[in-house]
Amino acid sequence: MSDHELRVSKIRNGTVIDHVAAGQALNVLAILGIDGSEGEGVSIGMNVPSDRLGRKDVVKVEDRELSQSEVEVLSLIAPEASINIIRDYDVVEKSRVDRPETVTGLLSCPNRNCITNDDEPIASKFTVVADGVRCAYCGEIVRDDIAAHLDVQT
Ligand code: CTP
Ligand code: ZN
Repeated sequence: MSDHELRVSKIRNGTVIDHVAAGQALNVLAILGIDGSEGEGVSIGMNVPSDRLGRKDVVKVEDRELSQSEVEVLSLIAPEASINIIRDYDVVEKSRVDRPETVTGLLSCPNRNCITNDDEPIASKFTVVADGVRCAYCGEIVRDDIAAHLDVQT
């Protein structure tokens, strides 16, 4: 898209999460724990035309950079995403998300009988598989709506 077609304004400072799979923008916000209640500036574009992906979502968060664990969970729902750090209107850093091999302590297991849901102090652990994540303790697979299983505000 050329500049005069920009659907969402440029931002001065913050993070642009670009090339998000179409339809996942609201899940990206859920992962980042953003609901607008803290007055943060957030712009989203959904189903924006993209050369690479056909359609994509874009999420722009002002005055905020992302933690490693946030990026890990993002990679599960938006494996093609690129993270652009913006300072004073310039892209000062651009990186692709990496799919981790395992995700520890960030997601909760949907299986109520799973040992990680007992009172035992056991951190959840999921292995990343082709179509989702698999609990390392009970084998339960989470395919859809991984954001709904977020355990902590990352
Ligand atoms: N962007 C923004 N505000 C800025 C600078 C950039 O919102 N001050 C956004 C752009 O709209 C784009 C993303 O950040 O969605 C990356 O910007 P840039 O690297 O300039 O764009 P491209 O070269 O198209 O990126 P890529 O090669 O990753 O597709
Ligand atoms: Zn489990």
